[in-house]
This record gives sequence, structure tokens and C-alpha cells, in this order.
Amino acid sequence: MNSAASAVPVRLTDLPVPAPHAGDVDAVLIPAEQLQERITSLAAQISADYAGRDTVIVALLSGTVMFLADLLRRLEFPLRLDFMGVSSYGGGTESGQLVYTKELKLGIRGRHVLVVDDILDTGKTLRSVTAKLAELGPASLKTCVLLDKPERRTGRFDADYVGFRIPNLFVVGYGLDYDERYRNLPFVGVLKPHVYTEPA
Ligand code: XMP
Repeated sequence: MNSAASAVPVRLTDLPVPAPHAGDVDAVLIPAEQLQERITSLAAQISADYAGRDTVIVALLSGTVMFLADLLRRLEFPLRLDFMGVSSYGGGTESGQLVYTKELKLGIRGRHVLVVDDILDTGKTLRSVTAKLAELGPASLKTCVLLDKPERRTGRFDADYVGFRIPNLFVVGYGLDYDERYRNLPFVGVLKPHVYTEPA
């Protein structure tokens, strides 16, 4: 069974939202401990698959920040790390036009590339990024996401390694933002609709 097939399905919990965030966050979707447990098993699988390979991890800015830090320190093989910046213009909770804000620094020709992103939603970002990287001649090209929202997909795309399969809800925390806020929450939570329906 590949790792995407072993993605952990999650539903909203009734855990209390920590007081400082309770005004904006409706519910906890994935508590901090569950994130760590799943990332440990994902890292073990990636370590087994990539041992002995000349590997470049390509992390997408900025939502991967927490996931990447926790995943990386558990990867037990020598690797190189690079970042790509890709934003979808449009704002709000809907994705719009893709704009590259940072290009790769490392060469990837003949190397094994694993792209790490926070969430796979419509699939537009990872379809574009993988098409762009494939042109550079990597030995292999795979993708790893913490969260997968399959109900939102607009075309064919599956990630190779998936942490959790989540329902069609806009989520924040553990690196994920709304308007650059909430990235510091140690859990993944669901915003209260007033946050994105009322003017700031
Ligand atoms: P696509 O649609 O291209 O989306 O697969 C990938 C990017 O969209 C952002 N995104 C979200 N960000 N909560 C967020 O904070 C969400 O529920 C969400 N859904 C999509 C994210 O930047 C991701 O890389």
C-alpha cells in the first residue's frame, strides 16, 4: 500500500479550542499530538523509500513551514533542501491565478525530487509545480502533502505521500494561514465563517 492510500481520514473533533483562538476558530480538526504521530510514520516511509538516493526536497513557501520542520528532522538520509515560492492571487478562501515568487536555486537534473506542500486542494498548484520541475530532468519526481481535500479537486492529481484526508472545510493553523494569520496555531483548525465574510 502506498502512503497516499494510507492517509488518515479525519473528522471535526469536539476538543476545546484553546482560549486565545476561540474567537476565530470554530473547532479543532487535527490536534498537535495526532499531527506528530502521523508525521513520524510518514517520515519513516519516506526514509525507507529514499535511502541511498541523491535527493532534493523542494518545499513550497510558506504554508509548509511547520510540517517541513517536523518532517525534515525525522528524515534519516542525506538530502538537499530548496524552496519554491508559489502564491495564488485572488485572496479569500478561493484560489486564483498562480504566481511564482521564488525559483529553485539547486539543479535537480538526475536527482530524486520530493515536493512538499501543506495542502492539496484543487490540485492547481501541484500540477503546475510538477510540470515545471519535470522539464528540468529529475531522476524521479514525487509529492508529499500534509493534508488532502479530495472533494475540491478540479482535475486529476494525486499526491504520493499524504498525511491526512480532510473534509471540504477551509483550515488554518500548523503553518496554514488566512490572510497571513493563524500560521502559529499548533493544531489544524476550522475558522469561524465570520472571519472571511466580514470586512477586516
Ligand atoms: P490548490 O487549489 O492549488 O491549493 O491545490 C493549494 C494551495 O491553496 C492554499 N489552500 C489553503 N490554505 N487553508 C489554507 O490555509 C485551506 O483550507 C486551503 N486550501 C488551499 C494553500 O496555500 C495550498 O498550498
